[in-house]
Amino acid sequence: MYMVRVSGILDDFGDWPIDGAEERDGESWVYFSNQVVARSFAKANGGKLERARWEVNLDYQRSWTAKPVGTRWWIAPETDPEPAPEGRHRLTMRPGLVFGAGDHDTTCGTLEMMERVSFIGQSVFDLGTGTGILSEAAKVLGAASVIACDVEADASRMAHDRGIATFQGPSSALPDGRFDILLVNIPGYVHLDLAPEYSRLAKPNATLILSGYYEWQAERIEAALPEFSKRDQILLGDGWVASIFSHARATASSD
Ligand SMILES: C[S@@+](CC[C@H](N)C(=O)[O-])C[C@H]1O[C@@H](n2cnc3c(N)ncnc32)[C@H](O)[C@@H]1O
Repeated sequence: MYMVRVSGILDDFGDWPIDGAEERDGESWVYFSNQVVARSFAKANGGKLERARWEVNLDYQRSWTAKPVGTRWWIAPETDPEPAPEGRHRLTMRPGLVFGAGDHDTTCGTLEMMERVSFIGQSVFDLGTGTGILSEAAKVLGAASVIACDVEADASRMAHDRGIATFQGPSSALPDGRFDILLVNIPGYVHLDLAPEYSRLAKPNATLILSGYYEWQAERIEAALPEFSKRDQILLGDGWVASIFSHARATASSD
């Protein structure tokens, strides 16, 4: 996670894909998971780029409380001693700067969409795993195998500690046509870059579950995925979207 310190209070971030912002002593501290974007933002706003310290998030993380998500999940901070209600699986929120504790709408929306897909016996790839929360959910839903990756070392370490087979780096390390289900909760502009990668990694009958983008970005993202057809979508808080796509090659072969 990266932080840009800008002198003065910024309240309009335009189209910059920020991950958070706060006011500190007359400065704006703006957070980004992507270093290249953070550097561009710093340059455009005369700010100073730093590696974020996770302590800055402590107050916010102390405010986390347990909550139900969809029909299957119970997301709870690691300090919460209560077990999950019957029929729900507890996904523990781990503090830190790695995205995917379970507090964000896009993580919850992806978990909700995952309930609408059969994972039993499927091979799953979780691209941009963060804390590994979606991979854990895929295992609970009966996936035969789950592999995850993240470009951030802290993230792949955290997912590994969660018991997920994960590696640090881009998905290009993986062979073609390998996965039944792809889980990708990543900012909209990254989906545009990675769209060809989803086709490469997918088996002919694959399912793609996407989130991390806004409704206003959906049309461009869908246009970048000509081999996939959208079969479901939910609108989340603040205009975020979570959606399910089917690989069009499967439809073509079953005609
Ligand atoms: C929005 S977070 C999602 C985390 C988690 N999967 C969730 O749903 O809560 C996106 C993650 O993708 C990682 N990421 C961004 N670009 C990536 C890329 N090209 N390849 C792999 N990981 C990437 C980031 O480091 C970040 O941890």
